[in-house]
Amino acid sequence: MDRSIFLSLALTSLLIGVVSARDWNILNQLKGLGSSQTGEDSTKLATNLKRYCESWRINVEVHNIRNYDVVPQECVAHVEEYMTSSQYKDDVKRAVDEVILHFGSMCCSKTKCDGMDAWIFDIDDTLLSTIPYHKKNGFFGGEKLNTTKFEDWIKKKKAPAVPHMKTLYHEIRERGIKIFLISSRKEYLRSATVDNLIKEGYYGWSNLLLRGLEDEQKDVKQYKAEKRTWLINLGYRVWGVMGDQWSSFAGCPGPKRTFKLPNSIYYVA
Ligand SMILES: *[C@@H]1O[C@H](CO)[C@@H](O)[C@H](O)[C@H]1NC(C)=O
Repeated sequence: MDRSIFLSLALTSLLIGVVSARDWNILNQLKGLGSSQTGEDSTKLATNLKRYCESWRINVEVHNIRNYDVVPQECVAHVEEYMTSSQYKDDVKRAVDEVILHFGSMCCSKTKCDGMDAWIFDIDDTLLSTIPYHKKNGFFGGEKLNTTKFEDWIKKKKAPAVPHMKTLYHEIRERGIKIFLISSRKEYLRSATVDNLIKEGYYGWSNLLLRGLEDEQKDVKQYKAEKRTWLINLGYRVWGVMGDQWSSFAGCPGPKRTFKLPNSIYYVA
């Protein structure tokens, strides 16, 4: 085939692939392999892009890829597709099920609790979803997060609950385990954060820790480790931390277990 025709065909198919691959479904991918509707080469290209981006996403999740500023441009559509898919919801549900399984082996029950059992949650993309913000701004990690714009959105208190998380939150709370919310949101967003959490059905936490001015100089990782130290020094047994960023778990002291929720839109160090 003439090289330029091949190239333009390839490019077109790449674009078709990006636009039409909205339905994140591994079976569609497999069907796509056998199809010759758009030509074998172009199908292969679209499939390769999808596979490439899925590898990128998985490697973010397992923390092989770190400190990225933006999602690679060619994978922004893939990240959007995943984060808005039913697969994402199923993945969150699986994490929730694993937490409940973890509690199955724990001694703490309403009658036996001494009030010193604790659990830590992140807020953004753990209890409250920022996906509507990314939808509205159309980036899904393709551009660096504009903090001013993002915080203006937080002030609107419109973040919905992450699917399945409200159930888990109350499941833990009803076991008599104290819930601590440790977020990298700034202190001045406290009332908006509290209102939004309550509106979405989260209540009864023991403490909501936000970043004060002195904490803003630190890495999120260091800030969160310091808050865990504070909790443990008070005598709490931290049974687990659930978050969407590795910086929620890093450093000492470590909790007994960590539960990572998927999020490849942004990376917080
Ligand atoms: C961030 O958003 C604000 C408000 O929309 C805008 O004025 C500002 O220029 C943006 N900053 C960057 C770095 O894009």
